[in-house]
Amino acid sequence: MEKLQQKIMDEGIVLSDTVLKVDRFLNHQIDPMLMKQIGEEFAQRFENEGITKIVTLESSGIAPAVMTGLILGVPVIFARKKKSLTLTEGLLTAEVYSFTKQETNEISISSKFIEENDRILIIDDFLANGQAALALVDLVNQTDATVVGIGIVIEKSFQDGRQLLHEKGYRVESLARIQSLASNQITFVKE
Ligand code: G4P
Ligand code: NA
Ligand code: NA
Repeated sequence: MEKLQQKIMDEGIVLSDTVLKVDRFLNHQIDPMLMKQIGEEFAQRFENEGITKIVTLESSGIAPAVMTGLILGVPVIFARKKKSLTLTEGLLTAEVYSFTKQETNEISISSKFIEENDRILIIDDFLANGQAALALVDLVNQTDATVVGIGIVIEKSFQDGRQLLHEKGYRVESLARIQSLASNQITFVKE
């Protein structure tokens, strides 16, 4: 997605060989116009899949997921990282391992929002090692619903996430694929 690549070039900050800061439009301040275009792009890529719901992870997955849900006309459910006071019954939970923090955290969604005939699109802001996406897949697979695909805003293609998800048979659509962040340079995968 050309517009997104341009935004990353203009406003992304390379923090290290592995980390890209995008808090000017995705992780802190949000660019609604860009999010709308991201939603349109995901909607187009998955338009023939009969998506009935979107599942994402708070907090940065919510903006692109909601825009996609708006275009597709389907609800969006975000997995929570902290237990909610009011959300206690019928919880589906999965573990997310963080390589950077070397810790495991639990994420959860309420099972009442997933129905057996649901065709689910998973959306997240970043794909690195794939642990968050796998946990979202795990949540859905505890129900009778089907994961139809995974939509990622920014994929770090030099990390293992995409391959891991492919090996498990999932379709991954990433709107920007970063080949390298080495030497303070952002290069994209040539497609
Ligand atoms: P890991 O397995 O790759 O180590 O993932 P880790 O749990 O460390 O990821 C922690 C957070 O960092 C996640 O967001 C993830 O989306 C994000 N992330 C991973 N790589 C990058 C990157 O290069 N740049 C940026 N900006 N973020 C990255 P989160 O903690 O769930 O935060 P949020 O959704 O509330 O924003
Ligand atoms: Na993030
Ligand atoms: Na995230």
